[in-house]
Amino acid sequence: MIDFRHIYKSYSDDVAALCDVNLFIEKGEFVFLTGPSGAGKTTLFRLLSAFDQPTSGDLRVAGYNLGDLNRRDIAFFRRHIGVVYQDFRLLKRRTVFENVALPLEVRGDSSSVIRKKVDVLLDEVGLSHKADKLPTQLSGGEQQRVAIARALVHHPGILIADEPTGNLDPDLSREIMHLLERFNARGTTVFVATHDHELVQAKHRRVVEISNGRIVRDQ
Ligand SMILES: Nc1ncnc2c1ncn2[C@@H]1O[C@H](COP(=O)(O)OP(=O)(O)O)[C@@H](O)[C@H]1O
Ligand SMILES: [Mg+2]
Repeated sequence: MIDFRHIYKSYSDDVAALCDVNLFIEKGEFVFLTGPSGAGKTTLFRLLSAFDQPTSGDLRVAGYNLGDLNRRDIAFFRRHIGVVYQDFRLLKRRTVFENVALPLEVRGDSSSVIRKKVDVLLDEVGLSHKADKLPTQLSGGEQQRVAIARALVHHPGILIADEPTGNLDPDLSREIMHLLERFNARGTTVFVATHDHELVQAKHRRVVEISNGRIVRDQ
């Protein structure tokens, strides 16, 4: 499902953001990615979601060879991926419903299909009653739940969350993590970057730790 082989990523000659990363993640796994700021977590996720390309190495995700994608392939590949960010990245002038609908609009689903799918996802994240609100009318935890609904509305096989609880207090962080686990239990592969050690320790999950661009622990 996710297969990094000898992946290197340099932004310039002297900085290796990733150095000989080897990582295999099976379909349906739940994996934490930990490591200090600057370790390479976001870089790894950007490669994994085809927002950037490795400098060298072989990267295969969901049956695609990411070293070898044209624009059209990238659009198709992204259907297999949902991404959640620390700062939510919702469109401020669009309602909750419209934000969640966005990935389906982009791929051209009909409005009746969109209505059904968005309603299901909003229900699953417990925000049906906020469908017509703007993001600014929601709490941080609610905004992150909208972002999760948007990331999953097109039923991707893989969900990547880059420090999804970084802006939330401990109670809300646990709630968000619980939500990610619920989607994982239904088969979505979930890969979560965090440097919240308490959160990671509370769950008995696979932890991949990265330091200076290298994987230093995987268990
Ligand atoms: N666009 C970029 N241009 C140059 N250097 C970058 C860029 N993005 C990240 N880096 C560098 O790559 C390294 C890894 O960064 P990053 O992947 O953001 O780490 P993390 O997400 O673990 O904090 C850092 O040294 C960072 O400064
Ligand atoms: Mg980061």
